Amino acid sequence: MSEPLLALENVNSYYGESHILKSVSLHVGEGETVALLGRNGAGKTTTLKSIVGWVQPQSGSVTFAGEELAGKEMMEIARKGIALVPEERRIFTNLTVAENLRIAQVTARKPGWSLDRVYERFPRLRERLANKGDEISGGEKQMLAIARALVQHTRVLLLDEPTEGLAPLIVREVEAVIREIKAAGMTILLVEQNLYSALGVADRCYILDQGEVVYAGVPDDLRGNEDVMRRYLHV
Ligand SMILES: Nc1ncnc2c1ncn2[C@@H]1O[C@H](COP(=O)(O)OP(=O)(O)OP(=O)(O)O)[C@@H](O)[C@H]1O
Ligand SMILES: [Mg+2]
Repeated sequence: MSEPLLALENVNSYYGESHILKSVSLHVGEGETVALLGRNGAGKTTTLKSIVGWVQPQSGSVTFAGEELAGKEMMEIARKGIALVPEERRIFTNLTVAENLRIAQVTARKPGWSLDRVYERFPRLRERLANKGDEISGGEKQMLAIARALVQHTRVLLLDEPTEGLAPLIVREVEAVIREIKAAGMTILLVEQNLYSALGVADRCYILDQGEVVYAGVPDDLRGNEDVMRRYLHV
């Protein structure tokens, strides 16, 4: 295998005295979509935070295109093209959809997708351009948060539970968006509680349990592995 674009090697992360990530190793190849699964509190969000420098790993390494990220500032890591779309989505609720996107565009160090391309892929957003961030649905907020990452130069998209709290129909739409972004060649690390949503889009998956990687495999293997699913995912 050629060198992965993003790789975690024996990462240990703490909140105060609590040892949360225990020697986590995983990798994401260029153009791959990798799902990170696990129950509530397993350490999924902490893994994403440890990649972007929101949490500083106490030991281990996080490399991006072969370069060490551990110890670097969040801003510096973001500038390299690693975009985290957090669970809470964090869009500007007092600004319109169009303004949210324009801000992302003008603050980008390097441009990513054009607004035309974004509107083509997110027709729902085009219809809501004049609506404020607090006047759109949860699914539309999620799409806006993803679109905002795309108008900036993004090389790896980290998505934290993009389908959480959404109605089934909207979940399908968000899945379709992720599939299109993937088809456009984006590298994606996808955190999901929605197992079937993740299996439908991922090339490979990892399962975290109590801060440890307990499984790595391809979706078809995991689907057939009832023991692992029951033990670590409660399905
Ligand atoms: N800021 C924090 N300070 C202290 N402990 C935290 C903090 N954030 C998370 N934790 C703890 O770290 C562990 C891992 O949390 P994390 O948010 O990474 O889990 P998760 O897999 O993303 O869960 P969920 O599916 O509920 O989002 C949990 O035990 C959680 O209570
Ligand atoms: Mg989480």
